[in-house]
Amino acid sequence: MRILLTGSSGWLGRFLAPLLRANGHVVAGLDIAPGADTDILGSVADRALVDRVFAERGIEAVIHGGALHKPDIARYPAQAFVDVNVTGTLNLLEAAARAGHNRFVFTSTTSLMISQAIRDEAGDAAVWLDEDSGPLEPRNIYGVTKLAAEQLCRLAWLNDGLGCVVLRTSRFFPEEDDTHRALSGENMKANELLHRRLTVEDAARAHLLALEKAPEIGFDVFIVSAPTPFSRSECSELKIDAPAVIARHFPDAEQLYRMKNWELPRGIGRVYDAALAERRLGFRCETGFAEVLDALRAGRPLPFAHDPAYISPKEDAATA
Ligand SMILES: NC(=O)c1ccc[n+]([C@@H]2O[C@H](COP(=O)([O-])OP(=O)(O)OC[C@H]3O[C@@H](n4cnc5c(N)ncnc54)[C@H](O)[C@@H]3O)[C@@H](O)[C@H]2O)c1
Repeated sequence: MRILLTGSSGWLGRFLAPLLRANGHVVAGLDIAPGADTDILGSVADRALVDRVFAERGIEAVIHGGALHKPDIARYPAQAFVDVNVTGTLNLLEAAARAGHNRFVFTSTTSLMISQAIRDEAGDAAVWLDEDSGPLEPRNIYGVTKLAAEQLCRLAWLNDGLGCVVLRTSRFFPEEDDTHRALSGENMKANELLHRRLTVEDAARAHLLALEKAPEIGFDVFIVSAPTPFSRSECSELKIDAPAVIARHFPDAEQLYRMKNWELPRGIGRVYDAALAERRLGFRCETGFAEVLDALRAGRPLPFAHDPAYISPKEDAATA
C-alpha cells in the first residue's frame, strides 16, 4: 500500500517507516523537519499541501504520528497545538475520506487521560486506567488537542465510514523525563515499563497492526503500553508499598536492581491497562519489565533505548 506517514522524521517515524517498508508498503513521509524517511517537507496544517500530496502520490492509507507534543508545551503557544494537532488531523481525515480510504491510524497519547488530580497522585490508591476511564479531563493543551483529534477520527468513521484506529500510546521517548530527575534515566524507564511505558519498536509494531486491522475494526481507541503485571486489586498497596507488590510478581527484582544501583518505585500512582488492545487488536508488546529483568540476569544490553541527547528534529532544524 502507498502510505502517508506524518511525523516521519521523528522518533517514532524513524522506526515505523522502515518497518512499513519491510512489510511491503511504499512510504511517503511528511514532516516539517528533514529526515531520512521524509520526502515531503511541510505541515499537516497546510491543507493545500495535504490535498496535493494525496493527488500526486496516490495515497491509499494514512498513519498520522506528526504532532506537537508534551515537550512542545514550553516552546509553542496553544494556537499552534490547535493548528497542528486539530486542524492538521482534520485536513488528513477529510482528504482520506474524499479519497475513499478505509484505513487511518492516529497516534494519540495516554497523557490525555491524566487529569490534574491523577497527576498530583491525590488519591490513596493507584489509579487504574483503561479505555472506559472517564470523564476525561486532560490537564494541558497537548491532551486537549489530542482528545479533540480522537473525536474527529470518531466523526470520520461515523460520517464517512473511514476506518480509524486510535492508539493511545504511553511513553516511548528516549530522552530524560522533563519533570522528574530523582532516578537515572535508565532506572526510570525500567520502572515505567511496569505500568506506563513501552519501547519505540513495540509502538511501531502496534501501528503496523492497526493499519492492517482498521477496516475490520471500524473505529476504536486502544491503550498501547507494555503489559502490566499488576491487577486492580493491588492498587491500594501499589500506592503505599510498590516494592512489596513487585516482589510478589518478580521475586529477584530487588536483587537484580541492586547490581545496577537502581531503585524500585516506592509508590505507583497510575497503571495503564492495555488488555483491550490485546483482545481486540491482537497486539501485545514484546518488551516489558520481565524482559528488563531477563537482560539484567543475563548481563545483556537493556531492551529499550535511552538517549538523553535526543531532541525532536524540528527543534534541531530550528537551531541549526
Ligand atoms: N514520545 C512519546 O513518549 C509519546 C508518547 C505518547 C504519544 N506520542 C505521540 O507519538 C507521536 C510521535 O511522537 P515522537 O515521540 O516520535 O515525537 P517527535 O517529536 O520525535 O516526532 C514528532 C514529529 O512530528 C513532526 N511534526 C511536528 N509538527 C508537524 C506538522 N505541523 N506537520 C508535520 N509534521 C510535524 C515533528 O517535526 C517530528 O518529527 C506524536 O503524535 C506524539 O504525540 C509520543
